[in-house]
Amino acid sequence: MSTKVTWLGHAALSLQTGGYHLLVDPFLSGNPTATVDPANVGADFILLSHGHGDHLGDTVAIAKRTRATVITNAELCDWLTKQGVKSHGQHLGGGYHHPFGYLKLTMAIHGSGLPDGSYGGNPAGFLLTTKEGKRIYMACDTGLFGDMRLIGEEGIDLAVLPIGDNYTMGPDDALRAVKLIEPAQIIPIHYNTFDVITQDPNQWAQRVEQETSAKVHVISPGESLIV
Ligand code: NI
Ligand code: MN
Repeated sequence: MSTKVTWLGHAALSLQTGGYHLLVDPFLSGNPTATVDPANVGADFILLSHGHGDHLGDTVAIAKRTRATVITNAELCDWLTKQGVKSHGQHLGGGYHHPFGYLKLTMAIHGSGLPDGSYGGNPAGFLLTTKEGKRIYMACDTGLFGDMRLIGEEGIDLAVLPIGDNYTMGPDDALRAVKLIEPAQIIPIHYNTFDVITQDPNQWAQRVEQETSAKVHVISPGESLIV
């Protein structure tokens, strides 16, 4: 049973894995690159990396409509509980066997404040081990950090990395990240949504494939990769 990873635009992803439908950081309303309607999208679980508006997005509305469980840090779970949303709290370095697979929260160098000014704890990335043993590392919003090497030691089949610069790693640091993580495949995200994160993903892919053995999949919002 393979895993289908679909980029929904910006940092939003849809994962179909182990018979479940996961959404990651579903910022869809107000996202100029979004390819699905938040009123129709399905979800069994929503993975929320941090509290910023371009990640929290439509999480509350989708979770209420679909009764999906939101998986995120404990502080964001407290906030989501107050919004009437069901959640499962984890924290950095902690993994849990969910019905869809084993999910670990990884560190991310970023912020996590909520749009209403509430404290959102620490930002996270996600390391998913699917039921068939594939490892998908979603770095989410982060700068480069040396301990990406430790994440890479687990053996990463697919890394989903930000390359937009300004708010996260840019192309140069994302290339250094690839050298630390050594993933088999990569999907770049978090670029070209707004003017300040304009990048040429094909040029980046060329550099990565010249300097590492990773295969970069430059996909457009709405397109998928089977892992
Ligand atoms: Ni952010
Ligand atoms: Mn962001």
